Parts: sequence; C-alpha cells; structure tokens
Amino acid sequence: MILTLAESNRTLTDPAESLAILNSIGIEYEEWPLHPSLSTTETTARILEAYAREIDQWKIRGGYTTADVIDVYPETPGLATMLARFSREHWHDEDEVRFVLEGHGLFHIHPASGPVVSLELFPGDLIRVPKGTLHWFDLCADRRIRAIRLFQDPSGWTPHYSESGIDSKFQPLCFDSHHHDLPA
Ligand SMILES: [Fe+2]
Repeated sequence: MILTLAESNRTLTDPAESLAILNSIGIEYEEWPLHPSLSTTETTARILEAYAREIDQWKIRGGYTTADVIDVYPETPGLATMLARFSREHWHDEDEVRFVLEGHGLFHIHPASGPVVSLELFPGDLIRVPKGTLHWFDLCADRRIRAIRLFQDPSGWTPHYSESGIDSKFQPLCFDSHHHDLPA
C-alpha cells in the first residue's frame, strides 16, 4: 500500500503514519498473506477456498454475506465503460471491501474533514471503505486487477454520484509502472 496526500502530492514513507491517517478517516487496512500456489487462471471457487479463513473472519466481523472474485485485464470487454462508472466521486449504501490478489488499484478517499487521500493497493492489501464514504477508483498502467470482494448485499453496491467534479482535479498516479520510484 502506498498512501499519498493527493493535494500536496506528498507520498508517505512511514507505514505507521499511513495507517494512522487511514485510521483517522475510518478506512480499515489489513494485509493478508498471499497463496503463491494459486495460478493466474485459478477458478473463483478455488480462490475463495484458499482464503476461506480470512473471508469468514471478515464476514462475521462486518456482516458480509457474499464473496466473489473480480478479474480484470486490459482486454476485458467494456473495460473503459466499467472504469468510467467508478472513476467519478461516489458512495455506496454498503461497505466496499477489496482484497487484491493480482495487479493494482488506486483509490482516492475524500474524507468528511481533511485532505483527499490516494491509496495504491498491491497484492496482499485489503481495504474497507465504509458505506457512505466519498471515493473514486482507477486502475494503474497495467490495467489489471484481480480482487476478492465482500458484500453485505450486492444490490447495495450501486454507486451514488456526488457530481462534485473533484475527481477531475486529481491525476490517477500509480507507482506500479516505475518501481524504482517507490519510497524506501
Ligand atoms: Fe466504489
């Protein structure tokens, strides 16, 4: 996970500081150990089975009833349309919980108070964006993400758009395409 204070373009290098900021804006973050034996073509059932222990813990904790796997490649049909749905500021009537298995994702979180936080997620990263939180999402240069999603009720995950236009003020900058720039 790489956290950037988007308005000042300050990328944090201290994980403790990143966690403290996430905590202060109600975003939960956790790392799960990856199962390296799972191939890129593994079925959803096998993936959910491999992470059953972590998923079950989170289901109990957050009242989630359903888990699935989203799998996006640069060649995924309708990718641009799909991405456009989520790259504008919105909120949901339920939590957005994502555990990244492959690829990258870039969340911008717009807290009720305090600056916009940009959060780049890598394999092994889990994030919970509580319901009602303003946010938007982009893919990185690899246009690739495979992630486990948890739902309380999948129908509650329809985006509500704020139409604030704030998302257009931020470039979706990821570090994934130039790892040598990663903070130490
Ligand atoms: Fe969302």
